[in-house]
Amino acid sequence: MEILEMNYINFRNLEDRNIRFSPRFNLFFGKNGQGKTSILEAIYFSATGKSFRTAKNTELIKYNKEKMGSYILYRDLISEKSQSVKMDKNKKEYNYNGKKIIFDEFYGKVNVVTFIPEDIELITGSPIVRRTFFDGEIAQSNYDYFKDLKDYNKILKIRNKYLKEKKNQDELFSIYEDKFIKLAARLMKKRFEYVKNISIILNLNYRKLFDEKKELSLKYENFLGDLKGLDLNTIEEKVVEKIAHYRKQELKYGFSMIGPQKDDFKFILNSKEAKSYSSQGEKKSIIFSLKLSEIDMVIREKRETPIFIIDDISSYFDSIRKENIINYLKRRELQVFISSTSNLEIESKDFEINKGEIQNGAV
Ligand SMILES: Nc1ncnc2c1ncn2[C@@H]1O[C@H](COP(=O)(O)OP(=O)(O)O)[C@@H](O)[C@H]1O
Ligand SMILES: [Mg+2]
Repeated sequence: MEILEMNYINFRNLEDRNIRFSPRFNLFFGKNGQGKTSILEAIYFSATGKSFRTAKNTELIKYNKEKMGSYILYRDLISEKSQSVKMDKNKKEYNYNGKKIIFDEFYGKVNVVTFIPEDIELITGSPIVRRTFFDGEIAQSNYDYFKDLKDYNKILKIRNKYLKEKKNQDELFSIYEDKFIKLAARLMKKRFEYVKNISIILNLNYRKLFDEKKELSLKYENFLGDLKGLDLNTIEEKVVEKIAHYRKQELKYGFSMIGPQKDDFKFILNSKEAKSYSSQGEKKSIIFSLKLSEIDMVIREKRETPIFIIDDISSYFDSIRKENIINYLKRRELQVFISSTSNLEIESKDFEINKGEIQNGAV
């Protein structure tokens, strides 16, 4: 997958602009506070309809402006396509090849993998950070998962309301609970399979790029324990058992005490949990390896290469690690967007950014 062109209007501090990209490396360089992250964010936003640094979309609208918009022309395996997102304080609109579509249809058309300094939170942060991340990853190449997750969250809310109001004798409650069980089992099975697959790739990438003497794995933590070898029916049966076990407590506390909304994912480096035992440098390397593994997972699931966005590479990695990473990327057929405060040893299309304005490289 390759983004050919982009344009944006009123996007953060950026001056409105049309840009043509290189199919390989695109480098955005400039001092801090000039708009490097913003331009990567504009690419991400056009591709996914979201931001990688805020959940509050209105932050993206340039100060003192009413609305904002961004557009990309891209090429996937089949043909050239375009999509855009327009937004003001009250609404957001998605377009695909000039036709208005809803977010559910928009999401996942362009696959993007990002690496930003804040990603370290995937190790140090709370479980919800990891759940949100892995859900997004699985969902971007699996529409059924995307839908199941949405339905599950809806049902979970309803179920909690019933539990809170102690309406578990209600006929509808058992219908909702049935759905709850089915969806929970499906989500868990998919998460288990995803983790199993990505864990192998993760270890290979980590050893190849950072430390061949260590073993890295990802572990899926859930209320049923190890799901290895279990089919969907068996998982469902186990969920039913657990629910029965927690029935009294759930009614007492008035919410769902078990389910995938409580799952977690753990990075294990040489048999020790990275969160507590790994150094800062190791954590960064683990996360970068994770992002490379995501790329491999998208290729595997969709037969399509995602675009790769790397923010602030120079402040994040020391020069040896940076060199390893760049050499690795040179060998991969990927379109890469990198921001950096200094120049990098790569053949790239260079865009210098100064106070939101792109000084060169643009067409
Ligand atoms: N909605 C907005 N409108 C105008 N300027 C903004 C908006 N949001 C952030 N900024 C400003 O944009 C500038 C560039 O930010 P950023 O892209 O993070 O720079 P860099 O990554 O180059 O350090 C910052 O000075 C920030 O205050
Ligand atoms: Mg930045």
